[in-house]
Amino acid sequence: MSSPTTAAGRHFLFLVTSARRKGNSEHLARHAAAVLPDGCKQTWLNLADLPLPAFDDLRHASTEAWTPAIEGPARTLLSATLEATDLVMITPVYWYSLPAAAKLYLDHWSAWLRAPGWDFKTRMAGKTLWGISVYSDTDPRLAGPLRDSLQFTAEYMKMRWGGLLLGQGNRPGDVLGDHASIVAAGQFFLGPPAV
Ligand SMILES: Cc1cc2nc3c(=O)[nH]c(=O)nc-3n(C[C@H](O)[C@H](O)[C@H](O)COP(=O)(O)O)c2cc1C
Repeated sequence: MSSPTTAAGRHFLFLVTSARRKGNSEHLARHAAAVLPDGCKQTWLNLADLPLPAFDDLRHASTEAWTPAIEGPARTLLSATLEATDLVMITPVYWYSLPAAAKLYLDHWSAWLRAPGWDFKTRMAGKTLWGISVYSDTDPRLAGPLRDSLQFTAEYMKMRWGGLLLGQGNRPGDVLGDHASIVAAGQFFLGPPAV
């Protein structure tokens, strides 16, 4: 399999899910993205700009109930997700797991899986899911639930799991002082997907 660095035509969607702007996770993600070659398209979206409605679980309701058109931010996110070959979830550790905005986005996948005409599951299969995260702790085991959530999601969707890039920092910009994670960012997209 060719690596992302040689694969012109790949399209990375960077999805920022932090509850603050220009946070550590986005800083780390921009370092990782900086090494992508020109042939790789980058799209950056911030969930704060695309507020999703509360997720309504209509999976077992009548068909009419769950077939309304997907509109507004949900449509923008659904289209952007499907257009990407690589989905990069930029997710600081919140309570050992994903920020609420990231979780809500994934909850909406449950609706998108059933949305007529989108063929979501088939089209997601084979894409690569990556995670980029920062936490204030120092024990990487404490980011385990976040890592597992993303990796298991990739497996369920028959996506490749690219791996989690984890940095350390609390106040905005702290991660720039975490030399190890900044160095790791420069290599993150260069290797084969994690197993
Ligand atoms: C709601 C909330 C929950 C958090 N939970 C954790 C946690 O469980 N473990 C941890 O190490 N840091 C936790 N933090 C700290 C953040 O992970 C840390 O400040 C990180 O740098 C934030 O990333 P950002 O700057 O990209 O938003 C939490 C922060 C917030 C706001």
